[in-house]
This record gives sequence, structure tokens and C-alpha cells, in this order.
Amino acid sequence: MANELFTKVELGEIGLRNRIVMAPMTRLRATEDCLASPMMAEYYRQRASAGLLITEGSHPSPMGRGYTYPPGIHTPEQATAWRKVTDAVHQEGGHIVLQLMHAGRVTHSSLLPGHALPVAPSAIAVAGAIHTFEGKVPFEVPRALATEEIPGVIAEYRHAAELAVTAGFDGVELHAATGYLPHQFQASDSNHRTDAYGGSLENRSRFTIEILHALGEVWGAGRVGIKIAPGYTVNDMYDEDPAATYVYLARQLNPMGLAYLHVGYESGYTRGTGPSFNPIDLLRKEYSGRLLAAGGFTKETGNAILAAGRADGVVFGRSFIANPDLVERFRRDAPLNEPIDVSTFYGGGAHGYIDYPTLAD
Ligand SMILES: Cc1cc2nc3c(=O)[nH]c(=O)nc-3n(C[C@H](O)[C@H](O)[C@H](O)COP(=O)(O)O)c2cc1C
Repeated sequence: MANELFTKVELGEIGLRNRIVMAPMTRLRATEDCLASPMMAEYYRQRASAGLLITEGSHPSPMGRGYTYPPGIHTPEQATAWRKVTDAVHQEGGHIVLQLMHAGRVTHSSLLPGHALPVAPSAIAVAGAIHTFEGKVPFEVPRALATEEIPGVIAEYRHAAELAVTAGFDGVELHAATGYLPHQFQASDSNHRTDAYGGSLENRSRFTIEILHALGEVWGAGRVGIKIAPGYTVNDMYDEDPAATYVYLARQLNPMGLAYLHVGYESGYTRGTGPSFNPIDLLRKEYSGRLLAAGGFTKETGNAILAAGRADGVVFGRSFIANPDLVERFRRDAPLNEPIDVSTFYGGGAHGYIDYPTLAD
């Protein structure tokens, strides 16, 4: 099969030298002040041969923080810290976009300013527990955002997008997947609002679309992407009709001219029977722009989905954790490193982060 992964592609205004995209992956190696660390610059530099790097989720507001040691993008100091990352990637000829991730209800008051309650579309808690500085604690019932507060949250995303310009990124990606704030608005189970942001498909999509417009005003739509995960059920997510939700959303995105739509499809993560459709194939038919496919791809399945015209780029996650030179290994058909202990995925030091060997090693 032709090596489609190694052909060039334009995602809006962003020109990629290959179609191999590194997935956004939270690794929790920032400082206590949520500043990107020197180790993070080295991690992304090592992986810069990807056509595009999508950073780990970065919170656009102190209220959007969902973890211990994630990087933020709401202060000038955070933008300055990210600049070291973008410079390192650009020195290697790579491209990097910042993923904007607001945790919404998937956080805990102990991680938030003044120990405020998490905010969400509705006062519905996530079932289960969350990792905090004090260990695992049950999720709290979040505070439902008042209608009048929503423009302020969108303004925080806009401010974060402006800081991302200062930080030297090539664009931004809105994290509207895997149970975080925009997804909480989209999914029927987590959004019981009766105002203009809840109820109908149009209303449940409004928050996501308003954020995308704000990001586009800062960056130009051709440097703004969005990640969605239809039917995803981790973080206690449930949507009674994910196909309808995302077909509606895709049709709204069509005239916007975004850089790309990134579709996560991790069938193993779905609750019950999961979605009765493949969201990548469904949205390929509905969405007229560039589509990135994510979830369990290998070199072979990645080349196959491109050759079949079912996607424009392929997103690789865990294989990039373990293989800084994944692109070179794909090029040479070389064996891949396996990720070591998953306890190194989230948090820790250099081990399991920047010490995976390359072929040259
Ligand atoms: C350690 C880890 C952290 C992740 N963090 C994020 C994140 O911050 N934002 C996001 O959109 N997806 C996140 N994901 C999901 C990945 O982007 C990707 O969709 C998933 O790993 C499936 O791709 P893979 O099978 O190639 O690993 C994470 C995945 C892993 C393994």
C-alpha cells in the first residue's frame, strides 16, 4: 500500500509535511503554577517530526483546571513558558497547536481558586472519584453556570487564544471531547438547561460554536481546530443520540472554514453498546473540511484510512508516548517501543517521558 501518511496536506492555513499527527495527551509535568516546564519543551522537540503536534489540554481559565500539574494558558507567564515549547518545535521544522481544555465539572474545588465549586452546564455530578493533591476524592456537585456568566467563559477562551498567539503556536484546538466543558453542554445527560444553551440540538451546540467564533476572531478560522468524541462515555458522559448531536454540529461547522475536525473514536471506551455508528465515517459524509481520525491507529490502519479517503490525517497517541521518532520508525518500517508502566503517563519526572530511545540510540 502507498505510504499515504507521508504525503503533505494543508489543514486550513497550517501546512503539514506529513499526515502523522501527535494526539493531545495530558502528561502532568508542568509546574505548580501551571507553567510549561523545560522538560516539556524537550518532550515536544523530540516528537517534532510529526506533521502536527497537538499539545496536551491546557486550561484557558483557573476554573478550567482539572488536574495536578497541568499547563495553563490564562496568564502572560504561562504564555512565556509555552514559548520555549513552540520555539523548540519550530527549530526542528515542526508545527504545534495548543489544545484548550476547560474541565468544567471534571475537577475538584481543591484545584480551583478560592476552593470554588467546579462549574458546569447543570448541577449534575460525575459519578466516581478524581485525583487531587490530597489523593482520590469523590466528584462534587458542580455549580450550574448562570446564563449571564457564559459570555465571560467565552471571553476567557478568547483571552487564552490571544495568549497562544504570544506563545508562538501555529493555531489552537478546542477540546470539545471526552467529557470536558463543551462536551458537557453538547451531551443530553449532562445538560438539563432550559435557557438558550440547553434542550434542542441548536441550543446544546451553541456554547461550542460561540467559542469557535471567538477563537476564529483571534486566529482566523483556518488556524482553529476542534476535537470531538461522539458517543464517548468516560467521565460519566451519555448522549441519548450522539449521531444527531454531531451531524448537527458538523453541519454548523461546514461554513466556518476551520482548519480541521478531529474525531476521536475509542470504541473500547463506550458505555453499554456504545454508538451504533462509526463517527469517523458518519462525519466524513457530513463535514466538508479536513478530518483527522484518532483512536487506536497503527501505521497500517492509518495508511488504509487515508487511502480509502475516509480521513485527511491520522492522530497517534500512545505510540507517540513511547516513540519520539515514530515518524522515522514508520518511514523505515522499524519496530516500535512499547509504552512502559502506565503510571508514568500522568505525572512524574523524565522517566517514561523524555527517556524513550530513538532508533539512533
Ligand atoms: C496519557 C493520555 C493523556 C490524554 N490526554 C488527552 C488530552 O489532554 N486531550 C485529549 O483530547 N485527549 C487526550 N487523550 C486521548 C488521546 O488524544 C487519543 O485520542 C487516545 O490516546 C487514542 O489514541 P491512541 O489509541 O493512538 O492512543 C489522552 C490519552 C492518553 C493515553
